[in-house]
Amino acid sequence: MKSIQLVAFGEPTAATKLVETASPQPSTGQLRVAVEAAPINPSDFLLISGKYGYRPALPSALGAEGVGRVVAVGNGVDASRVGERVLLGFSPVRGTWSEELVIDEKDAVTVDGDGDPTQLAMLGINPATAYALLHDFVDLKPGDWVAQTGANSATGRYVIQLAKQAGLRTLNVVRRPEAAAAIADLGGDAVVVADENLTANLRKALGGERSAALLLDPIGGPVTTKLASIVRDNGTVVSFGGMSGEGTVLGPGELIFRGVSLRGFWLNRWRDYTSPERIAEIYRELAGLSGKGVLATPVEASYGIDDFQAAFAHAAKSERGGKILFRF
Ligand SMILES: NC(=O)c1ccc[n+]([C@@H]2O[C@H](COP(=O)([O-])OP(=O)(O)OC[C@H]3O[C@@H](n4cnc5c(N)ncnc54)[C@H](OP(=O)(O)O)[C@@H]3O)[C@@H](O)[C@H]2O)c1
Repeated sequence: MKSIQLVAFGEPTAATKLVETASPQPSTGQLRVAVEAAPINPSDFLLISGKYGYRPALPSALGAEGVGRVVAVGNGVDASRVGERVLLGFSPVRGTWSEELVIDEKDAVTVDGDGDPTQLAMLGINPATAYALLHDFVDLKPGDWVAQTGANSATGRYVIQLAKQAGLRTLNVVRRPEAAAAIADLGGDAVVVADENLTANLRKALGGERSAALLLDPIGGPVTTKLASIVRDNGTVVSFGGMSGEGTVLGPGELIFRGVSLRGFWLNRWRDYTSPERIAEIYRELAGLSGKGVLATPVEASYGIDDFQAAFAHAAKSERGGKILFRF
């Protein structure tokens, strides 16, 4: 079977290689899964570059989420599970950029066999992140405003979709005018382009009020610093990514005089401090919403594993129209 391995830290094209090995054999309590689809996320590139929250020992398997079918079971696992479709990424997993992988039975969450595999493959990371960002920092009430940078990202889109479910209003900042219409169509209550009129347009969008209870930030840099001016006194800013290459900085007016807090979020840590029962319940809810089409994000292209270099180049491209996935 073919898989992509990380052999050094650096640029994706130089740091990875396609390897061919025998199919992995499931031990007691394990299942072998044939992967159907697995996305490429910004965090994969961070891991490959060596700048992520941990560095795996090399060589290392790659790919942190996906969906697949059970093709073999080890001792102690009911053979009737063969054929089930399971979510990969419900608990930390590495190795979904692979034709097959072995997982523990406790991590094999069954999902809709008829659902769209590309959407199911993206359930493990970004929807759970959006859910935790909306539920675990501020006690939000229906009608509250949640502001976000990076609104056109997959995570930003899931934030809008989940916020709608909870009766929250979203103020969405995008970097490109052409993304603004798409985010408004998706149900973003206010959409503002991060251009030279950002501050004036933010005021206009909220009627001059500092009314966002929560600001979610995967981008960082000066846009976030400006956006923090519309967070209410004692409100919260959560940094969970740095797509601009800069950190999240709040001015003294926000931090000192208005009591705005700056917090951080990492899904890997969230999985450590959140009970397995709550995590399972959240993923069941997210899978249900995905099945109904309430949770979805656009896919720009899919690649076979042999074309992994082209897939990486496409995923690293700026201004994509959606996610890039491997299909097997
Ligand atoms: N901390 C966690 O646990 C966690 C979990 C999930 C995601 N994240 C982070 O959330 C972020 C988004 O992830 P995703 O998978 O949702 O992303 P994605 O769908 O791949 O989209 C990437 C987004 O980044 C924007 N972007 C790229 N370069 C930028 C730049 N230089 N300045 C401003 N915006 C830029 C793009 O803007 P355009 O739409 O204009 O192209 C796009 O909206 C990433 O930083 C990721 O690491 C963190």
